[in-house]
Amino acid sequence: MSVRRLDKVQPDSFKFTSDNLAWAKETIQKFPKGKQASAVIPVLWKAQEQEGWTTEPAIRYVADLLDMAYIRVLEIATFYTMFHLSPVGKKAHIQVCGTISCQLRGAEEIIKVCKNRIAEKAHTLSDDGDFSWEEVECLGACTNAPMIQITKDVYEDLTPDDMHRILDEIEAGNKPKPGPQNGRQLSAPIGDLTTLTDPTLFDGSRLMSKSSQKAAKAKPAGKSRAAKEKPASVKAITADKKPALEKPAAKAEAAPKSKAAPKAEAGLDDKDRPEALKQARSGGPDDLKLISGIGPKIEGILHGLGIFHFDQISSWKKREREWVDGYLRFKGRIDRDQWVKQAKALAKSGGKKS
Ligand code: FES
Repeated sequence: MSVRRLDKVQPDSFKFTSDNLAWAKETIQKFPKGKQASAVIPVLWKAQEQEGWTTEPAIRYVADLLDMAYIRVLEIATFYTMFHLSPVGKKAHIQVCGTISCQLRGAEEIIKVCKNRIAEKAHTLSDDGDFSWEEVECLGACTNAPMIQITKDVYEDLTPDDMHRILDEIEAGNKPKPGPQNGRQLSAPIGDLTTLTDPTLFDGSRLMSKSSQKAAKAKPAGKSRAAKEKPASVKAITADKKPALEKPAAKAEAAPKSKAAPKAEAGLDDKDRPEALKQARSGGPDDLKLISGIGPKIEGILHGLGIFHFDQISSWKKREREWVDGYLRFKGRIDRDQWVKQAKALAKSGGKKS
């Protein structure tokens, strides 16, 4: 980046118009007492808007207004390329990003257009005084390289033809539409998705344990589809098998459907899977989120597995804990968080945390 110095030719003075002074005072008031200096960038920007560029008298004026040392405001004006230190084109000052991404994507060609149409040297006014240009460092739109900035607007994904068109429009007194010039939306891919296209990233199947995945491979396709459609019913408990888990009443509240529950295609028939209920018992499910380590998403997944009550979790043996841990890809978190101990206490206290 080139050294940024104040222009050799400066006006005698600077003063805000009454409107701009009122705006500046209002802006300064937004900051706490003693922190007025925080308003320096917007106030200096307003001075530039009024004058067309940032003059030395304007820097002194803003410093006085904010009770700052002149050098502090000068440092800001010379650091940020948004402040123009020399007179710029009346219609537009083009700031072309010349940093790596833009450079690799054709910034040189954009600069060539500026040289041909505006002036060979940067910071030089065009013959009619309407345009000027300069090369600046990264303007933060690297995904849309190459790009230019004109005052507050950025024009991205440029080709030399786009650059000619933009200059033509400004010359004709129109404002070209800012943003990407190649039709894409912001920085989204221009065609179809090119990354994260694997559907298993989103269908929950990656949540299955290794043993479940093996079972899924071995399982005939038809059965697998059925399991996918009705995950909670695959291993519904029967009353004679485990009386402690009561048979749901005919009009029992339906199990809440959860978007968070993964579409487990198989593995739900594993012998180690904890026994499941078709739905919560009458009275509704326990608030499993009272167990530290279970949030709304995990609770939804547990419901999908037919787990609704503290006493179900409190009865899990090692193999069952390991199955759920693997299914949730928790790497031992169930034991570390002591779900079984917590569930026992909650079942005993009727769902009240001690
Ligand atoms: S490199 Fe040009 S915007 Fe970042």
